[in-house]
Amino acid sequence: MSSRKKIKWGIALFLVVGLGIWISCRWSVWFGNPPEFPYETRPEPHRVLLTMGTNGPHSRIVTWQADTMAQEGKLMVYMLPEGSKEIAYYYEASCEVVETRGGKVAFYRAAFNLDDLRHSVNGYQFSVKTAGKESGIYKISLPDSKDATSFIFMGDVQDTARGLSHNLFKAIDRQHADADFWLFGGDLVERPIDGYWQVAFDDLDSIATRKPVLGISGNHEYLKGLVKQLDPRFGHVFGYYQNSKVGDNHVFSFAYGGARFFLLDSNTDAWNLPAQRSWLKEQLGACQEKWKIVVLHHPLYSNKGKHYNPMVKWAFADLVKTYGVDLVLQAHEHVYARWNDKDEQGNYMAPLYLSTYCSPKQYRLHFSVPEDRIGTNDRFYQRISFNADSLSIWTYTASDHKPYDHVCITKDAGGYRVADAMRGAPQKVEISNWFKLNKGRHLKEYEKEIEDWKNRQ
Ligand SMILES: [Fe+2]
Repeated sequence: MSSRKKIKWGIALFLVVGLGIWISCRWSVWFGNPPEFPYETRPEPHRVLLTMGTNGPHSRIVTWQADTMAQEGKLMVYMLPEGSKEIAYYYEASCEVVETRGGKVAFYRAAFNLDDLRHSVNGYQFSVKTAGKESGIYKISLPDSKDATSFIFMGDVQDTARGLSHNLFKAIDRQHADADFWLFGGDLVERPIDGYWQVAFDDLDSIATRKPVLGISGNHEYLKGLVKQLDPRFGHVFGYYQNSKVGDNHVFSFAYGGARFFLLDSNTDAWNLPAQRSWLKEQLGACQEKWKIVVLHHPLYSNKGKHYNPMVKWAFADLVKTYGVDLVLQAHEHVYARWNDKDEQGNYMAPLYLSTYCSPKQYRLHFSVPEDRIGTNDRFYQRISFNADSLSIWTYTASDHKPYDHVCITKDAGGYRVADAMRGAPQKVEISNWFKLNKGRHLKEYEKEIEDWKNRQ
């Protein structure tokens, strides 16, 4: 063999060995799943969730789980005054037994519409029943007649121990008691494991049964593998997906208070995305509501750089511009970033992109998209309100519940405008203790990037 050939073979061998080492180092990150140990589900109804229905803005779904086999399930809606057990309405529940890695569980789902209920001055309560075993009685918080609709949005939560976010959720609920619903932007649970679902329900506590709670899928609700698999519990907890799935895509669109929401499933396998793209295109094309809000877990423009999330970008990035989406809510990257593209005069163009998180895990800001406002070293949550004239986004820091960011979008004959109330305000760009402890090997690079960013300001 000539020496030239030997060099070529040597390089090839080096590349193959290098690739092999790299793949074996990354194998568990890409494909590994922590085990789900066997669990026993309780026989009585538990993990009861009130969520949005698929039949108009006032339709609701209640989901719960009980035991391991399909039995008769019922939803009862009672008229208030409190304590009254005069049954106003019965609804039969559908049931499906779901097999997970740690055991079997029966999920129940019952739908009703507030418009079909006899008017009750004081509102309604509900309970659910499976095989004669009844849950507690829960009061439903009804949207009151106010001039704006509001909801709470939260990126990744991913609590790993019981009740870590319980006090935080309670405080948000108290301060924003008039919010119509809560929406989670994926990775609500740490992993597709029964115990972590319990943690999420412990955190939600009474919010879960008082006002609609919605969620989109994130990568942490998926089992990793060459073919990814969404936790089979997910579409049963958030029961609206049962009537709304497109193939393997867990997508859902609903109208509420003059806005239409489009919930996407960005962690699905790439071969599912063309169908999801077609669905979004069709839904956006048919949208009659003034405000269009797209919600997906993976940012269309990653903070990590332009080569990230290419398939998600391919599937949706042009659609949100073509169809005049006003707001894109995103999560996953554990940094806070908000930005709009600008025209030649520097005017903000639709849509407004917002990436957020509400987890103690804090990743690195890469300053790779032209952000209008960024934040780190805290947890963040949003209160988003809209009426016929404007859509307003308040971001709060979870450490003190103080406003961190505020923008207001108006859209009328004069076009799309964004009033950026925080332009020029100091930004929290710090390296968190979590990052130092868990990602310390990148500390020097990160410090340098922050320094460069400060010099550019
Ligand atoms: Fe994520």
